[in-house]
Amino acid sequence: MQEKLQQLSIQAKTELNQIADAVALNNFKVKYLGKQGLLTEILRGMRDLPAEQRPVVGALVNQVRQEIEEQIASKQEQFDKIQLEKELAKNYIDITEPAKGHEKGALHPLSQVFELLIDSCVNMGFKVVEGPEVELDYYNFEALNIPKNHPSRDMQDTFFITDNILLRSQTSSVQARTMQVMKPPFKIISPGRVYRNDSDATHSPVFHQMEGLVVDENISMADLKAMLVELMRKTFGEQTQIRFRPSFFPFTEPSVEVDVTCPTCRGSGCRLCKGTGYMELLGAGIVNPKVLEECGIDSKKYRGFAFGFGADRVAMVKNSISDIRSMFRNDIRFLKQMK
Ligand code: DAH
Repeated sequence: MQEKLQQLSIQAKTELNQIADAVALNNFKVKYLGKQGLLTEILRGMRDLPAEQRPVVGALVNQVRQEIEEQIASKQEQFDKIQLEKELAKNYIDITEPAKGHEKGALHPLSQVFELLIDSCVNMGFKVVEGPEVELDYYNFEALNIPKNHPSRDMQDTFFITDNILLRSQTSSVQARTMQVMKPPFKIISPGRVYRNDSDATHSPVFHQMEGLVVDENISMADLKAMLVELMRKTFGEQTQIRFRPSFFPFTEPSVEVDVTCPTCRGSGCRLCKGTGYMELLGAGIVNPKVLEECGIDSKKYRGFAFGFGADRVAMVKNSISDIRSMFRNDIRFLKQMK
């Protein structure tokens, strides 16, 4: 029996040496140590041994079993290690590789312009007020001295939703709303989106304006001019000059159009300003007393000045953009140039 055990031990070692994967190792384990296994079988044979031999043989059986178990365990460890290395190789991460880096984004040219304009105005004491884009005819027109069916409505090609509701065609609508709720004196600006039924290289159906309104006692055109000079210098540079030309808006009297020296040639005349040296930029004026009264402000005591201009126009001039619509197409190649 001892001989048999020794043979079994040698046979197990040889077989184990040839085992190359975990499945074969498991089969081997069953073959030797399982319930019907070779070693178990020998153990059963011990019943037939004389009693004094049993402890000796028993000890030997245990030794062989332990040897086999140890060998299986070490083989298993080998396989586990190989498996782990395989997986690591598959999911290899080179932590020394330089990072790819993220591309930096940039603010849209219009956001840049609004930021600049709003900052300059807030520094001069203006408050930012917003109004709805879907607006009542009343605030967009009637309260601003533009009655229904009046020819002055032709100045703006409007998108109507119903007879009384429209997409606001100017941020001047916020003037009327503000005067109804704020007590003078106040200074507000209102940046935002406006809509008109227009589309070509210099007109987009959606565009952006910034409105300004100051209501106080003793307001004059001089206040308007001083304030606009300051704002335009902050926007286009310290050498910027402005000039007033008489104009007409139903909500201001007198009304002016404001030109700014061309930021490209600084007033000497170039292709962009068609040789004039100036660029038309704003509408402005002294708030028509009729508008003050309509909005509940005593026009004997208070006066106001107002101005409004296209922010898109400013963004185009500052960035030499020739087609306003390119600002709304979200073409990444265009936006990348605006950094
Ligand atoms: N709302 C006018 C427009 O869209 C611009 C304008 C002119 C605004 C004169 C004003 C103003 O506040 O006083 O053409």
